[in-house]
Amino acid sequence: MERIVSLCKRRGFVFQSSEIYGGINGFWDYGPLGAELKRNVKDFWWRVMTQRRDDVVGLDATIIMHPKIWEASGHTTTFADPMVDCLLTKKRFRADQIEPQSGVVYHYSGAEDSTDKAKTSSEPYSVLLAPGKNPDSARKAARQFYAQRGIVEARLLDERTEKVENSTRYNQENGSLLTEARMFNLMFKTYVGPVESAENTAYLRPETAQAIFAQFKNVADVSRQKVPFGICQIGKAFRNEINPRNFTFRSREFEQMELEFFIRPDEAVEAICGSVARPAGPGHPGEPQANWGWQMWHKYWVEERLAFYESIGLPRTTLVEYWQKPEELAHYARATVDILYKFPFSKRDAAGELAGEELEGIAARSDFDLSQHQRFSGKGMGVFDEELKLAWAKLDEAKKAALSQRYFESRRNYLVKTNEEPAGAEARAREEAAGLARGSYVPHVIEPSAGVDRLALALICNAYGEDTAPDEKGKMETRVVMRFHPRIAPVKAAVFPLLKNKPELVKKAREVRDLLRPHMTVFYDEAGAIGRRYRRQDEAGTPFGVTIDFDTLGEQGAELKDTVTLRERDSMKQSRVKIDALAALLLERIR
Ligand code: GAP
Repeated sequence: MERIVSLCKRRGFVFQSSEIYGGINGFWDYGPLGAELKRNVKDFWWRVMTQRRDDVVGLDATIIMHPKIWEASGHTTTFADPMVDCLLTKKRFRADQIEPQSGVVYHYSGAEDSTDKAKTSSEPYSVLLAPGKNPDSARKAARQFYAQRGIVEARLLDERTEKVENSTRYNQENGSLLTEARMFNLMFKTYVGPVESAENTAYLRPETAQAIFAQFKNVADVSRQKVPFGICQIGKAFRNEINPRNFTFRSREFEQMELEFFIRPDEAVEAICGSVARPAGPGHPGEPQANWGWQMWHKYWVEERLAFYESIGLPRTTLVEYWQKPEELAHYARATVDILYKFPFSKRDAAGELAGEELEGIAARSDFDLSQHQRFSGKGMGVFDEELKLAWAKLDEAKKAALSQRYFESRRNYLVKTNEEPAGAEARAREEAAGLARGSYVPHVIEPSAGVDRLALALICNAYGEDTAPDEKGKMETRVVMRFHPRIAPVKAAVFPLLKNKPELVKKAREVRDLLRPHMTVFYDEAGAIGRRYRRQDEAGTPFGVTIDFDTLGEQGAELKDTVTLRERDSMKQSRVKIDALAALLLERIR
């Protein structure tokens, strides 16, 4: 990983934010190559998720929204991580990320100052030592702890030891006792307007998804889309993570690419189609069908998203499809699949295999989100489904009663879970079940939610390679090569005149550059030996090198005139291509 981080800085993929001031933890900037890579990732996601589909439209919403949105979504109350502080260094950790440790704990009940008996502390303190470590290091840490409390020459009181196994109460870096866990809300707060008061408090969005729910009705109305359909958005999100780590993997400012795909509740599908199709086995379930319930749609999006990652060069073997266990699911989720990438810093499983870290979550979120916004805003989030109304009228009474009862129960469960008092929940759920019979319901949603920065990091890790290649004198040397899929490579083609002091070569090379530039990102380079120029582009991940040489000018025969050398980054193979065929050939490879 160190080599990858160092390449990122050296070649301008990623820089530490505010580096000249010592950086700011959890914030990263993308340099010229990183900015192109990220843009390519987002553009391709947008093309695949929206522009190439009839059933998904886009949204671009603000980062700061009405604070009620975060009450409705549950973020103000539940978007929190447990945190603990080191009692010695004050460093903060996520309580659930502390590795269990075993050893001997040295406990002290307090300390007194040996030069001034009036100075005492009765605050207990403990240090964990790994087996075999010198007890003096525990005493040293304890003296430091009491020195911070004004006991400069500390005499430690009531030392006692205790063996512990797999404890998470101690700082893994120095053994010091940690505070008890406290919940810490991850949303960044700010104020809207000149007065810093409670009523002017607002939040930087911690996810892009909520804007989609809040604008659901507007988008549905103007786009004339009918359920099932989706709304997607790409944008910044902010989380005041307790422990930003693993380079850009867990940042405090990052970008998300989220789709909210709205579907009929299963009861509506059954009323219309007679039954609800469920996944029959592994693999892609194929083209969407009217009789799909939430499980088929969920499976469909998991497979679509896996195919997306493969299409930009992440091999299936580097990805893990992780189905969350029931106890891991968010309270609103019926099922969630995390797509993990095997980052070099991932933990290893019992077999020594990289376990993977989350790139994207695909959650079946039921009708929770729209229902919450309906309740908190007082604005209806339901849709009218003509097909359902017509189908319902044709059902026999037993079927109507069974579907109504199921819908009533699921709505009542939601209302009770979200603290509606039981009588009110019962009455409202009955009303909503009656609404279903008239063709109305609040749509359910499947949410594929991906992080741009995590994906960019996965692509960088996956692309990084080292092999050997001959230098200008034919001597083999180590080559660093970024094997990006041409679709997302920051620069698609590099154009080189063989020599920069031959005006005819330079003129022709510039013509080729200008020919390609309207179609793709092109880098023009005339400085240095050609081998060195190739090597620079290998490190940048440029898949194609185009060299204009004396053959291009026709000096070695008319048949080679107006042809160039096309060099492929990965195989280093070279072939001759006609200039007028070049753009089409490259476009085919990069789209
Ligand atoms: N709307 C659902 C949602 O936000 P999430 O799992 O919290 O779900 C979705 O976030 C994706 O956003 C993650 O899979 C990850 O790729 C990205 N993400 C979340 N927190 C992040 C962080 N601190 N730094 C970088 N990316 C993050």
